[in-house]
Amino acid sequence: MADWHDVGAEGLVPEGEVVAVIAGGKPLALFQEEGSYYALHDLCTHGDTPLSDGWVEDGCIECPLHQGRFCIKTGAAMSAPVYEPVATFEVRVTEGRIEILA
Ligand code: FES
Repeated sequence: MADWHDVGAEGLVPEGEVVAVIAGGKPLALFQEEGSYYALHDLCTHGDTPLSDGWVEDGCIECPLHQGRFCIKTGAAMSAPVYEPVATFEVRVTEGRIEILA
């Protein structure tokens, strides 16, 4: 069953960047976009590559291996060669701590 997991203090991930975290035993990529936090499963759906090794641009994370792109907010596949969306995880901030439901 999913539960909330504390992954660090607010400010852990700067705006427009990505940080790898573990929550509930799952590898996740944590983002901050426009003042809100978002989390995606940290594994490209095209291959075994951590998305947190990629680049954030225009609200998307670009996979470092074949440059497929996913929407940070929805996990949607945005450009070839990725077609499968990546799982999203709910994020909240409680008393200055970032928590992820995983
Ligand atoms: Fe990510 Fe191929 S492994 S685009």
